[in-house]
Amino acid sequence: MGGNIRIAIAGVGNCASSLVQGIQFYRERRDCEPVGLMHLDLGGYRPEDIEVVAAFDIDSRKVGRDLAKAVFAEPNCTEPFQRDLPETGVLVQMGPVLDGFAPHMAEHPKRRRCVPSDQTELSQPEVVQILRESGAEMLVNYLPVGSEAATRFYAECALEAGIGFINNIPVFIASDPVWAMRFEERGLPVIGDDIKSQLGATIVHRMLTDLFRRRGVRIDRTYQLNTGGNSDFLNMLDRKRLSSKKISKTEAVQSVAASRIEDDNIHVGPSDYVPWQNDNKVCFIRMEGTMFGEVPMNLELRLSVEDSPNSAGVAIDAIRCCRLALDRGQAGPLHAPAACFCKHPPRQYTDDEAYRLTEAFINGWVHRVENEDKSVDAGHKVPGSAL
Ligand SMILES: NC(=O)c1ccc[n+]([C@@H]2O[C@H](COP(=O)([O-])OP(=O)(O)OC[C@H]3O[C@@H](n4cnc5c(N)ncnc54)[C@H](O)[C@@H]3O)[C@@H](O)[C@H]2O)c1
Repeated sequence: MGGNIRIAIAGVGNCASSLVQGIQFYRERRDCEPVGLMHLDLGGYRPEDIEVVAAFDIDSRKVGRDLAKAVFAEPNCTEPFQRDLPETGVLVQMGPVLDGFAPHMAEHPKRRRCVPSDQTELSQPEVVQILRESGAEMLVNYLPVGSEAATRFYAECALEAGIGFINNIPVFIASDPVWAMRFEERGLPVIGDDIKSQLGATIVHRMLTDLFRRRGVRIDRTYQLNTGGNSDFLNMLDRKRLSSKKISKTEAVQSVAASRIEDDNIHVGPSDYVPWQNDNKVCFIRMEGTMFGEVPMNLELRLSVEDSPNSAGVAIDAIRCCRLALDRGQAGPLHAPAACFCKHPPRQYTDDEAYRLTEAFINGWVHRVENEDKSVDAGHKVPGSAL
């Protein structure tokens, strides 16, 4: 196996920047022992096998530029770890704006927010044609939170072009039964929704929640507060755009709790925009519980990470799993990779189970995964999950 994996990207923001940098970073370290990856080789594919063949954005500083330059254009602010990127020959194209630009952004300095281009927006047939002509095998969605219409637009384009779809954002596609069925019927794989980070707030909060469950400690109250200074956090100041993000992040924790935590007793979400933090995200978790003899306890944790590279390695694995599914003719939502890599998958598993099932998927034990899915359905259901 091996060979190029051709992807298209919608939204050339900080996350796409880290992904593009990461592909080059690991290409240049081909012969060293690489640090920071969950899988160097995944089913015969390495990170440097990924090639971006088409990209769409709406920002005047990105549209019309080579992808290698656009990923460093304002308002992208993630700290570069691979400054030298060879020209790709891929020019960022002007997608339709739809709801990708939040009006409150206009009140903030241009260097901090999206500045929509006045170039003519591509129509759906034009985007589909670009996807087809580029040879893209899957479309990776990196639009801002709240881009419901724009995400549906790109999902339609993927269906029309006959390519896979990886939905990294909290708009429900893979976890929406109607969309999932449409991908299945079209014979195409879909992974989503809302990518997890390598070591981010969600995975840490979930592991701790699972630990409380295993150790018999009842969770009485918990919060997860997040601050950051990138355009994703600026965009999320508009609370109306946040409803699916909040559901996605909250359900990621609820789904591994021993029993559902009352709504008033769990608060998980982006909490404030602090411009000087740029792409540094700081997360504060507090968990209050009751242990042996009904004795109370509490835990406080602070996590500081560069937000965008934190999810790029996970995206690299999701892309390679999508390619494996294409190689194998597997269609519809990829349950194990979705549960492993995303906060709001169609089926929630504990992280241990999701990891185990994903390794089985990668190794091609497809039938075993299907059987395991059934056994999970039959009795080993994760408490509170939506299997
Ligand atoms: N660790 C992480 O950073 C992480 C984790 C989970 C989910 N996500 C999600 O991934 C998404 C991308 O995050 P980011 O930090 O790169 O955000 P960003 O704001 O840096 O990038 C979004 C990009 O989309 C572009 N865009 C807006 N509307 C568009 C349209 N209609 N068509 C094409 N492009 C459009 C913007 O101009 C911008 O370049 C967000 O929804 C974020 O919540 C990120």
